[in-house]
Amino acid sequence: MNEPLRANTLRADTPGVETLWVDTAFSYVEVPLRLRDTKTARGAAPGNITCCVIDVLRATSTIAAAMGNGCAGIYPCASPDAARELAASLRAEHGNDAVLLGGEKDAKPIEGFDGGNSPREYTKERIGGRRLVFSSTNGTRTLDAVKDCRAIFTAAFANITAVANRLADELKKEPSRALLIACSGRQGGYTEEDTVVAGDIISKLTSLIGEIELSDTSAAALEISKAADSDSAAMLRNCRWGRYLTTLGLGEDIEFCGKTDWTIIVPEMKDGVIQGA
Ligand code: MLT
Repeated sequence: MNEPLRANTLRADTPGVETLWVDTAFSYVEVPLRLRDTKTARGAAPGNITCCVIDVLRATSTIAAAMGNGCAGIYPCASPDAARELAASLRAEHGNDAVLLGGEKDAKPIEGFDGGNSPREYTKERIGGRRLVFSSTNGTRTLDAVKDCRAIFTAAFANITAVANRLADELKKEPSRALLIACSGRQGGYTEEDTVVAGDIISKLTSLIGEIELSDTSAAALEISKAADSDSAAMLRNCRWGRYLTTLGLGEDIEFCGKTDWTIIVPEMKDGVIQGA
């Protein structure tokens, strides 16, 4: 028989016990709803909530790669037009060569952009020391949706253990002890791949922190990750978006996004700019 879902949890209102509250949004559209629920569960307004954004295929894998290769800062933009405008003003300030404009629309390159959304594009030679203005269909919208949270990190398989460790450190010192895991999903809906990463992070936090109270969506994410193929690249290859990327000839990106813990970079967004630590 399976273990009960909340074997390691206590109720948040248990007197004298400071549990960690973990909520999960399956897409950027759900973020306001989950923030409201966290407020009800913990009385924590967005300004007190720690957040972890996931878009493993491919935005947060690309962010991990670019930051790991010495990018001077990623500027996520919620639309290609906003990205063009911001790139123009950063170029006027820092020079043309100091700024790259990257991203995708429905996984395809955007006209006039310097790069797409392949983590393999942002090598040391290309991105080292330069700024990246970045727009993606779901990932950067999610970053926009969580922008009022107190601390915002991004995670992928590339850096999952480093991010979980950093979240545990942050949450141990944070009095509200509330975490929102924001999966980007697709077009406002659920995706398997982001949910599996979310569940893996929850599982790591359970070992690192101990008593955790899970929202129903977090309990679901944990169960889905336990049932998923333990070969991350295979899971990515077989999920719906992975199959679509394969039809576009992007199979190598999927293998890249499936590699686990190859960097200890922890990207953090502050005042709209992602830096790595
Ligand atoms: C997104 O933000 O929707 C993606 O990262 C899509 C992709 O390019 O694979």
